[in-house]
This record gives sequence, C-alpha cells and structure tokens, in this order.
Amino acid sequence: MAVQISPSILSADFARLADEAAAVPNADWLHVDVMDNHFVPNLTIGLPVVEALLKATSIPIDCHLMIEDPDRFAPAFAEAGAGSVTVHAEAAKAPVRTLRQIRSAGARSGFALNPATPVEPYEDLLGEIDMLLLMTVEPGFGGQPFLDVVLPKVRRARALIARHGGQVWLQVDGGVSATTIERCAEAGADVFVAGSAVYGADDPARAVEDLRGLAERAARP
Ligand code: DX5
Ligand code: ZN
Repeated sequence: MAVQISPSILSADFARLADEAAAVPNADWLHVDVMDNHFVPNLTIGLPVVEALLKATSIPIDCHLMIEDPDRFAPAFAEAGAGSVTVHAEAAKAPVRTLRQIRSAGARSGFALNPATPVEPYEDLLGEIDMLLLMTVEPGFGGQPFLDVVLPKVRRARALIARHGGQVWLQVDGGVSATTIERCAEAGADVFVAGSAVYGADDPARAVEDLRGLAERAARP
C-alpha cells in the first residue's frame, strides 16, 4: 500500500489558492475542507471554490465534507470533477445511497468517522467505501493537537480492511505532522492529510516529501 500525502488547503492562503496548489506539485491530492457552520462550528468554502480550484490545478481534489446534509450536497462535488468525496458517518442519513451516487458520478467514495465514532458498526459498508477517513482531531479547525486516542481504532480499521480484501484506503486527518505521522503509518494509515504541517512550513513541497519519507519508512514491515 503506497503512502499518499494530501495537503489541506485550510491552512493555505485562501486569496491565492492557485499558487498554493502550485506550491505542492508533489502532492498526491489537495484536501479541501468544506464546512457549513452546522456540522462543525466553522464556515469555509463550497462548490464554487472547488470548481474554480479544479480549473486551476491538475492535482486531484479530495473533498472532505463537514456538513449537515451530505446526502443532498455530496453528489454535486463528484459531478464537478472532485477525485474523491468524503461524507461523515455522523451526518449521512442514507450513506449507502450517497456513497453509491459519489461513485456513479465518477469519484472515489470516502466515509469519515469522528474520534469518538467506532468503526465496527460500519464493517458491512466497506464494500461501498474507497477510502475510510479516521479523524485524529475533532473536526472544524486546522492546527489542533493530534489525538493519540484514535490510534487503536486506526489499527482495528486496518485489520477490518485487510479482512475485506485490503482495497480501502485508510486516511488520517488532524494534527498529522513530522512528529505524529510515523505513529499513524505504523498503525496502518496510508493516506495522510496535513494542513499546518505543510502550509505552515517555509517550503511546502519539501514538507510533503519529508512527511512522505517518514511515513514510508514507518510503514515498512
Ligand atoms: C479539520 C480538517 C483538517 C485540517 C487539518 O477539521 O478536517 O483537514 O485542515 O489541519 P492540521 O493538519 O493543521 O491539523
Ligand atoms: Zn479535512
């Protein structure tokens, strides 16, 4: 399983998003945090900005929807051309339908769990999911400290995924940095979101490479 790095533009300069995307040409994805001020206590950007970003970069877009009604809004992000669209378990009322709609619109389907949401109840959904996102902070803001308490769940999720054929990517998001990424990789994560650790660095592309190196070495058996 290859390590992938997904810099979160939440920590980038919103007035210069095209330049900020160009600053990480070695990123596998650009992570876009969509927040509605209801599911989380913060308001960020929506579909029009994602559409503009899609025209401004060739890096695939990884949309993380922290919104109250993902069943209604998620398919449009996939139809617009996002490569991956993730909805939250705590918000989706019809996750099977929504995950299928994301896939049929041509995107990878993502399913996210907050730190206190257990993974086991969703085992039967793994066939509908291309990427499972385990939040390693309470969602809503960049720059929060990493929650070690989630690591046992990362291990259990990796084991569940392995039992189901190993196809599902396992993403961690929140507080991922040079000091925490190795623990995540050892526990079985393979897609790493990093906001402040990338866009807070003097050289964001270098930060992406450093994170990738640390994760690859830690993931090696
Ligand atoms: C938090 C967002 C994250 C955030 C991560 O709710 O989902 O993607 O940008 O930022 P850092 O890496 O700074 O914790
Ligand atoms: Zn995110």
